[in-house]
Amino acid sequence: MTTRRDFLKQSALLGAGLTASPFFIKAGGAGIGANDKIGVGLIGCKGMGFGDLGAFLRNPEVECIALCDIDDEVLNQRAADVEKTTGKKVKNLYKDWRKLIDNKDIDVVIVGTPDHWHCLQMVAACQAGKDVYCEKPLGNSIEECNIMIRAAEKYNRVIQVGQWQRSDPHWQDAVNFVQSGQLGKIRTVRVFSYQGWCPSIPVKPDEPVPAGVDYDMWLGPATKRPFNRNRFHFTFRWFWDYAGGLMTDWGVHLLDYALYGMNVTAPNSIMASGGKFGYPDDACETPDLLQTIYTFDDFTVLWDHAIGIDDGAYGRNHGLGFVGENGTLVLDRGGWEVIPEKVNGKMRMEAVALKKSYGGGGLNLHVKNHLECIKSRNRNTNASVEIGAHIAKFSQLGNIAYRTGKKLTWDGKSFHDAEADAYLTKHYRAPWELPKI
Ligand SMILES: NC(=O)c1ccc[n+]([C@@H]2O[C@H](COP(=O)([O-])OP(=O)(O)OC[C@H]3O[C@@H](n4cnc5c(N)ncnc54)[C@H](O)[C@@H]3O)[C@@H](O)[C@H]2O)c1
Repeated sequence: MTTRRDFLKQSALLGAGLTASPFFIKAGGAGIGANDKIGVGLIGCKGMGFGDLGAFLRNPEVECIALCDIDDEVLNQRAADVEKTTGKKVKNLYKDWRKLIDNKDIDVVIVGTPDHWHCLQMVAACQAGKDVYCEKPLGNSIEECNIMIRAAEKYNRVIQVGQWQRSDPHWQDAVNFVQSGQLGKIRTVRVFSYQGWCPSIPVKPDEPVPAGVDYDMWLGPATKRPFNRNRFHFTFRWFWDYAGGLMTDWGVHLLDYALYGMNVTAPNSIMASGGKFGYPDDACETPDLLQTIYTFDDFTVLWDHAIGIDDGAYGRNHGLGFVGENGTLVLDRGGWEVIPEKVNGKMRMEAVALKKSYGGGGLNLHVKNHLECIKSRNRNTNASVEIGAHIAKFSQLGNIAYRTGKKLTWDGKSFHDAEADAYLTKHYRAPWELPKI
């Protein structure tokens, strides 16, 4: 179907994870030889970005050239942490990320900022000739994701999106089993993220901007409003201006494997229901419980999330269940197993006992894959910009269905519904502008 083919080019998205590349580009494109040092700069140092930098620094060719954060306390703490690990002082500490982009010693920019910054910072880094490790979800709107694909292509940059499960080998083993057909016809894929450890956040009053914080630069393109701690470090993800709640936060990691396993890209329809059922009066805007149903020709993908409870499915708090007529393959960060169907006392297939993750860390392997691709100028990283954009958009569809309360169809460009189409792009606060690529 033309409309669905438009959604994205299947082959570039699905098997791409750990397989051969369709995108080989002339070696040496960035002027980095196999034995050269690779200069890295990190924007957004508090949480995952710092974890990413740690994984880069486990590789001897990597040098940390600069750190950037709008919060002095975070910046100084992280500078001290890097010095302790590497024995070297970080030469450049910036509060304005544009200075880091201008630094000629930096080959790779890690974007570890909240989601509403990813597009501007990744595109600027591409324009400056840097390769980028960009945290997930790639963009904060469907339009941003499209722009980011175009920027990576136009400036020929090697991008790795922080979906590190794409480099963790047991996920690939599970996909191979699903695709072997042994489960029989798969009728649904249950994809769930139940985050018991995530607390409710009580409403707090606005307060003066803390000393040492450049709040205007934290907000960037987002709507101006008084400083409120609930909307700042880490918990920004529960507010629509900056992110998309668990639907996009965990959705991109897990739904990615539902589509990869089922070898599909675009659903026929999307509908969602949920709300602030657990904590109706707390500060979060995004739902603490949400179910989204993506319908394909003859199966569904069910997204199911909750905050403050851990009992997802199959005794796990996150993962996927590929529910086949012979058995269900259950997959999470810890490993995978197959639970056979038992009907009228008869097993329809052999059980597969839990095959644990190989250990060794998907994140480390993911960063190694990025470094190898940077050296060979191979744009087909394990989580390429195309893979990251596709699943960020797919997850956004769930939020748009929830926010409109409608059963939607999507042709890759439009919902043909004015209310839903209004969510395709995000308003940028001046002087920031959506990049034009
Ligand atoms: N791949 C994963 O497994 C994974 C896990 C957690 C988070 N993430 C992603 O990482 C990103 C950051 O999440 P987090 O939980 O680490 O957030 P965080 O709030 O802990 O850290 C973000 C940091 O960015 C800084 N920052 C904000 N705007 C900035 C700007 N304009 N310039 C410089 N610094 C700026 C903040 O001050 C803060 O230190 C999110 O997109 C999130 O989805 C990915």
